[in-house]
Amino acid sequence: HQCLAYKHAPLYHDTLLFSTCKAKNRYVSAWDTGRFDRMGLRERPQSHLALPQERNPLQAADSHKKYYIESKQKETFLMVLNIAMDGPVGAGKSSIADAVAKRLGILHLDTGAMYRAIGLTALEKGVPVQDEQAVTALCQALSMTVGHAADGQHTLVDGRDVTGFIRTPEVSMAASTVAKYAGVRAAMVALQRRLAQETPMLVDGRDIGTRVLMNAPVKIFLTASAEERARRRYQEMVNKGMDANFDDVLRDLRARDEQDMHRAVDPLRAAEDAVTVDSTNLTFDEVVEAILRIVADKTGGAWA
Ligand code: DC
Repeated sequence: HQCLAYKHAPLYHDTLLFSTCKAKNRYVSAWDTGRFDRMGLRERPQSHLALPQERNPLQAADSHKKYYIESKQKETFLMVLNIAMDGPVGAGKSSIADAVAKRLGILHLDTGAMYRAIGLTALEKGVPVQDEQAVTALCQALSMTVGHAADGQHTLVDGRDVTGFIRTPEVSMAASTVAKYAGVRAAMVALQRRLAQETPMLVDGRDIGTRVLMNAPVKIFLTASAEERARRRYQEMVNKGMDANFDDVLRDLRARDEQDMHRAVDPLRAAEDAVTVDSTNLTFDEVVEAILRIVADKTGGAWA
């Protein structure tokens, strides 16, 4: 096992990292790099995590504990905090995950965007999404990159930023279909694990707690009633000036729930050690606070 440290992603350039490591119950600021050398870490955390620029770096370094260091067989391991968040479509995962990650000063990885990018690519290349073999071959041939900039996550396929094209209803349905295929999932799970081991992040999806990050110290299952989820999605579309019909939204949402929960490979379900948060009767801020309390609780207050 190697010492894990930050690796620069291409889009991180103008961002900063402030980290505090826990070594044998001592907290060590990442600024104090000399200590890292003395602790024998081969790599040092580099400066690059997305934190709001207006924040005082030293305060941020004090209040955010990004790494856990564990001593094992005389080797020092630097471990990265990962939070797994799963739940059905429309539970507010993406925006809640964004808010929670921001409060903790860590990145948010939206894995749904990755399945969407594959769905989009299949549609654009005229590969039938129902054709498992063809979609799997397409997925194995393409190169996907995920990076984070000040305005959030960017998902790239063969170097092209597809972020602006993956939120249409057609792509949503295509994503749900391609996400059923074992070959597609294997490729995405591998990429997600690689990203999460390099950087402290909150990862949101359907199988994060049950498969991608089975050992994540914090697992959240965020849900809400189907009607409430449809109502929110409908409102969101209306607010964006889109042509929306509530019954269609509810029907699509139930169809996607059905497909996501009943597929053979890694269906959507709560991990046994996940804490369920039902947001049906909670405001946005209440959900964020509830999750932050769970994070603080599960990390012994280290990430309060
Ligand atoms: O969260 P989302 O709506 O952007 O996800 C798009 C589709 O991808 C959704 O139908 C479920 C699927 N998905 C998945 O199977 N596993 C994940 N980790 C994330 C999303």
